[in-house]
Amino acid sequence: MGFVLSWRWLCLMAPFVLSHLTCAESAMKSSGSGTGFDDNYVVTWGGYHVVNLNRGSEVQLSMDQSSGAGFSSRYSYDSGFFHMKIKLPNKNSAGIVTAYYLSSTGNNHDEVDFEFLGNKEGKPIILQTNIYMNGQGGREQRLDLWFDPTADFHDYKVLWNPYHLVFWVDETPIRVLKNLTRQGAEFPSQPMKIIASLWNGDSWATDGGLTKTDWSQAPFTAQFQGFDVAGCVTSTGNSCASPSHWWNGAQYQALKPNQSTAYETVKKNYITYDYCADRARYPTKPPECVLGE
Ligand SMILES: *[C@@H]1O[C@H](CO)[C@@H](O)[C@H](O)[C@H]1NC(C)=O
Ligand SMILES: *[C@@H]1O[C@H](CO)[C@@H](O)[C@H](O)[C@H]1NC(C)=O
Repeated sequence: MGFVLSWRWLCLMAPFVLSHLTCAESAMKSSGSGTGFDDNYVVTWGGYHVVNLNRGSEVQLSMDQSSGAGFSSRYSYDSGFFHMKIKLPNKNSAGIVTAYYLSSTGNNHDEVDFEFLGNKEGKPIILQTNIYMNGQGGREQRLDLWFDPTADFHDYKVLWNPYHLVFWVDETPIRVLKNLTRQGAEFPSQPMKIIASLWNGDSWATDGGLTKTDWSQAPFTAQFQGFDVAGCVTSTGNSCASPSHWWNGAQYQALKPNQSTAYETVKKNYITYDYCADRARYPTKPPECVLGE
């Protein structure tokens, strides 16, 4: 923490001594267990529903009838291996959506979503992922998790580099979008911030919106840890595609054999919905589905 603060101090005080790149790199390297929430993130809404725990190493968002809450990274990134440890609202969380995602701004934005759809006690929370490219979403996949995500923290991650975009649950890849722009598919390419939020999605999230939030169970709470960021801060002159960033290196350009095996197991046993296979909705398979096969 002291290290990060002193770097930020230098970046503020000595713009003529340190290049912009150096400051961006220092922000990028503010990693490790000592990284506090304030180093990389800011509360963006529902401030009264955000509590700092354990001296900033954990943050709790809560949702009641008056408001949910959310936070966002200070910086935008152009590549990285992003992660957040999350413990989801327990008991009856029907209608409550916990979201962890990357998003650019403006029209035609790019977005990469983890959305946890709350459920009645005893019924599984569903993990929905989605990808927006150039303002166009509708790329939902849904899966049942192989553990109870309300019992403990799990690490939800997104690897985004020039080769592919991979969603992870702990060490298991659950979704892969290859960068097939040369073959004519789209791929997220705009600078994105990291965002997390807790909000009321009872118009759609649980049983297609039929099961509503039970407000007598409020407040609903979710806890977040792991505010270190391994990402390339967007800035001119900083090549975010460079293999000098470890997440762009040879080890991260394709899944390893054991990761591919785990991914195949997820596809076979845990995916419950895949837009690529939804012929009623997409009579013509979207290009990234055809090319990615
Ligand atoms: C995707 O691949 C293309 C072609 O290799 C490359 O020009 C582009 O920068 C890549 N996209 C990202 C976001 O890295
Ligand atoms: C793949 O193997 C590495 C060690 O070589 C291990 O750290 C990782 O957890 C394994 N991944 C899966 C999905 O089993």
